[in-house]
Amino acid sequence: MNLSQTILGVDFENPTVLASGIMGITASSWRYCVQNGAGAITTKSLWPVEHQGNRNPTIIATENWTLNAVGVPDAGPEKAKAEIGDFMKTHEVPLIANIIGLSADEFASIAAVIATLKPDFVEVNISTPTFLKLRGKLFAEDGNEAGAILKAVKKEIGSIPMFAKLTPNVTNIGEIAKACIDAGADGITAINTAGPGMAIDLRSRMPILAAHKGGLSGPALKPIAVRCVAEIYEATGGKVPIIGTGGVYTGEDALEMMLAGASLVGIGTAIWQRGIDVFSKVCDEIQMWCTNEGVDNVSDMIGGMHKELLKRGVKGTGMKHA
Ligand SMILES: Cc1cc2nc3c(=O)[nH]c(=O)nc-3n(C[C@H](O)[C@H](O)[C@H](O)COP(=O)(O)O)c2cc1C
Repeated sequence: MNLSQTILGVDFENPTVLASGIMGITASSWRYCVQNGAGAITTKSLWPVEHQGNRNPTIIATENWTLNAVGVPDAGPEKAKAEIGDFMKTHEVPLIANIIGLSADEFASIAAVIATLKPDFVEVNISTPTFLKLRGKLFAEDGNEAGAILKAVKKEIGSIPMFAKLTPNVTNIGEIAKACIDAGADGITAINTAGPGMAIDLRSRMPILAAHKGGLSGPALKPIAVRCVAEIYEATGGKVPIIGTGGVYTGEDALEMMLAGASLVGIGTAIWQRGIDVFSKVCDEIQMWCTNEGVDNVSDMIGGMHKELLKRGVKGTGMKHA
């Protein structure tokens, strides 16, 4: 049973991808994920200048959901250059460099630095809820604003494929995805954390997170992520690769994300509950399921729900009006 695929000219041994932000910004922690089966690595969001995160506590985790308000801390471009440069020396799996900024100029500035390191893809984070504190609005809430950022990044990275990372906090994510593709994105990563959410400690009567609110990830996010991926696949006619991310814990979760339209599957919060070898566990589970069901290539699962609906005479998912 074949787990490998070539996407935008880049070879992936399996569809699992370390999601941005979960395993830090060092080559050694990325290699640790690769040793444990990750098919690709995404860096934490890289800023054009060093960026302080939030005060602790920044994370609260339960079995069903996690809230984080880490605040996208980053040691700055020199550190990013050193760590990405180190990882690219061995380059065992594709590297996706995730970048962030507060304006088109800031995105362009970090994109120019990152382009010199020749990552396999650049992922443009226009959707982290931290922005709600810094800027009051996410770029990914508005197709025009998202487009302006993507055009500025594309100018700097040239032929390196560019993925736009989207927020679920919009009425029509398909329209936003189309605007991103029109602005030069080659693929979409969906989704970033949702919310933000809040948790309150009963005794102190205070919010548990020092920043009060945090982005929602983990199992509770999965149905929203699956719906977003399905809508993006439908809106873009299944023509662009999607990295489906949000609450993927098991091989069956990954396959569900692929049926919705994902080519690759991001894994983040699951590392805390299933361990760092969640990547190889998910691959084994995919392999077992596909072998039992007679699926020879994992890529045959991509967009499978849409094909099935069509076969049954149902036009589109109809979810826009749900
Ligand atoms: C602690 C933490 C830090 C994160 N940092 C980033 C980040 O720097 N950039 C980004 O694009 N997404 C970041 N994310 C979002 C994840 O990449 C992912 O989109 C989200 O958590 C949903 O996937 P999951 O349920 O598998 O974690 C972060 C998530 C968590 C939990």
